[in-house]
Amino acid sequence: MFANEEILALDEQYVIHTYGRYGVEFVKGLGVVLTDAAGHEYLDFLAGIGCTCLGHAHPALVAALTDQVSKLWQISNYYHEENRGEFARLLSELLSTTTDESGHIIGSTSDGWKTFFSNSGAEANEGAFKLARRWGEKHLDGASGIVTARKSFHGRTLATLAATGQDVFHKSFGPLPVGFDSVELNDIDALIEALDHPSDKTGPVCAVMLECIQGEGGVWPAELEYLRAVRQACNERGILLMVDEVQTGVFRTGAPFAFQRASIVPDVVTVAKGVAGGFPTGGVAARTEVADLLVPGDHGSTFGGNPLAVAAGRACLQTLLDEEVGEHVITTGEYLAKQLSALPHVLEVRGAGLMRGVQFDVPVANELVEQGLKRADGKRHGFVLNHIGDSILRFLPPLIVEREHVDELCDALQDMLQ
Ligand SMILES: Cc1ncc(COP(=O)(O)O)c(C=O)c1O
Repeated sequence: MFANEEILALDEQYVIHTYGRYGVEFVKGLGVVLTDAAGHEYLDFLAGIGCTCLGHAHPALVAALTDQVSKLWQISNYYHEENRGEFARLLSELLSTTTDESGHIIGSTSDGWKTFFSNSGAEANEGAFKLARRWGEKHLDGASGIVTARKSFHGRTLATLAATGQDVFHKSFGPLPVGFDSVELNDIDALIEALDHPSDKTGPVCAVMLECIQGEGGVWPAELEYLRAVRQACNERGILLMVDEVQTGVFRTGAPFAFQRASIVPDVVTVAKGVAGGFPTGGVAARTEVADLLVPGDHGSTFGGNPLAVAAGRACLQTLLDEEVGEHVITTGEYLAKQLSALPHVLEVRGAGLMRGVQFDVPVANELVEQGLKRADGKRHGFVLNHIGDSILRFLPPLIVEREHVDELCDALQDMLQ
């Protein structure tokens, strides 16, 4: 479609084809707008899969990264550096927040959190598994099993694939690490059965890992009541509750973290995607009691928490707080859901805040993504959309998206669905 021929040819010949790419080459972005190599403009409703939460080239992130890039990029984790502690402190502050069920901030707890910084969501989850197993070793007679949910997604490394409750991702890549099994989401009896009568796959269980809204699986929310029941079941057995907030975290659902809408406090939370506004960074955060189980030599990463990443992360979290982005996400997200619900062929709109999935009664999702891009030629904007399977569109726009962008999107979808 709209990409430089030479760029396409190089990609075809030299890059491993793990993605079926669309024929568009983006060359710049500003706010919610992306521009391709031919100068066409697009409204971005994917945000690099939920990463560029402040939009493209936000001045606060540009300033933080520009300042840092001329000073220091990489020193290793053997030394102290500015911004790492501040970034972790801001994360701790956000993790200690309490909200109502809609995500409005209502207070804070006295819990302290510590973070290990990784480079991605999968690595963050790997760190969580190690914490869980250390917990099992110390407190649960060596229990090492980890229970997750069907339709979950936790990453592409071998252990995160084993944790991912979708067989389609497992084929061809075995043997996967042992000790993982999944149960139906929102079925508390199935979870309790897996904890009290562990399957051969897990053996005795040390932790449960869940997404509060399953993103890659098709935008399937965990019921708030279910999350509360899971917390209680874990408490009663001394088992860790680990929440994968890689996609739902950092105001994506309106609340600083999606678990807060259920008024629970997990033991371990993983983050990535939006936590540094699109600069590659992840982290595993744990309540201090759990975090302190890891000691020097237990875990590491060459690039994790590097000076550029923590400068971006600190600036991103501070800006999200200063600009009260959470309130904007709640109102704009409700508006987006209402407008999407009114479109033809829509069976259901799921999710919260600016993480929404639309279930269609016809297999049109692929075609809508293609058509959305093609509209860049001739219309005011094309649209960057995302489908999961044939009948689900997933929306993860920058958190600064405005109602006028939503209106333009829904007018275009209405037109394409005619
Ligand atoms: C919930 C969740 N966990 C983990 C991951 C893996 O993150 P990454 O691709 O940064 O490794 C993803 C990626 O989509 C995700 O949605």
